[in-house]
Amino acid sequence: MSWLSSFWRTSIGGKMTMAVTGLLLFGFVVAHLLGNLQLLQGPDAINEYAKMLHDLGPLLWVARIGLLVVFVVHVVTAVRLSQANKQARPVPYASEATVQATMASRSMVLSGLSLLVFVIYHLLHFTLGVTNPGHFAMKTSGAGGFDVYAMVSNSFANPAIALAYAAFQLVLFLHLSHGIQSFAQTVGIHHKRYTPMIKTLSFLLALVVAGGNALLALSVQVGLVEVAR
Ligand code: HEM
Repeated sequence: MSWLSSFWRTSIGGKMTMAVTGLLLFGFVVAHLLGNLQLLQGPDAINEYAKMLHDLGPLLWVARIGLLVVFVVHVVTAVRLSQANKQARPVPYASEATVQATMASRSMVLSGLSLLVFVIYHLLHFTLGVTNPGHFAMKTSGAGGFDVYAMVSNSFANPAIALAYAAFQLVLFLHLSHGIQSFAQTVGIHHKRYTPMIKTLSFLLALVVAGGNALLALSVQVGLVEVAR
């Protein structure tokens, strides 16, 4: 294991760790969105999906713990890399291009930390039931044992909650659109011909994922989803 931690401490090891954990987190966000889109199909679809996940039992816990570990490693590595960057460059840059690169990575740390705030709030809201216990109580009130539809639709009926979720999707968009490009660069996809295509692809993927989430957040407000009473 010590070779792994030695590799993690190197600059390239840190970047590779960011790329691999970033890819896994991106996979989670896409899968989570695909599952959550069933909200648009009505109560039966999303509630059956929630039940199916819950029926995985111990496997669900293994996935949750794995996700948590990946998330923590991603955040800790990002903080380490940004500190190492700062220590390596105490005097300001002379070149404009490097200043731009630093701005981008600095905004990644900022958007990443904002996403951390979002995930903590989101877990307190839908997983632990701390922020809106009334909505959370609906989660297990359905006939089949689950009424995620009631919990989510009643939450997003509150314009403040809906807007907060939608606003965080803007941050997710910024983080993903730069993160996907960085991933490509780290794994060596860097070419005069392909780089513009990768930039466009990163922009579109980030737009679809964050846009999909924002659509769900605003679904009740725009009349796409009815509130369960
Ligand atoms: C509007 C969009 C979203 C909706 C409707 C939504 C809905 C939900 C719901 C209902 C749960 C609770 C699952 C359960 O415990 O049964 C959940 C958990 C979770 N969500 Fe989201 N989510 C959204 C966006 C996001 C985003 C953008 C992220 C990450 C950046 C995220 C990360 C998580 C995580 C980490 C969990 C905990 C997973 C678990 O406990 O199994 N969600 N979400």
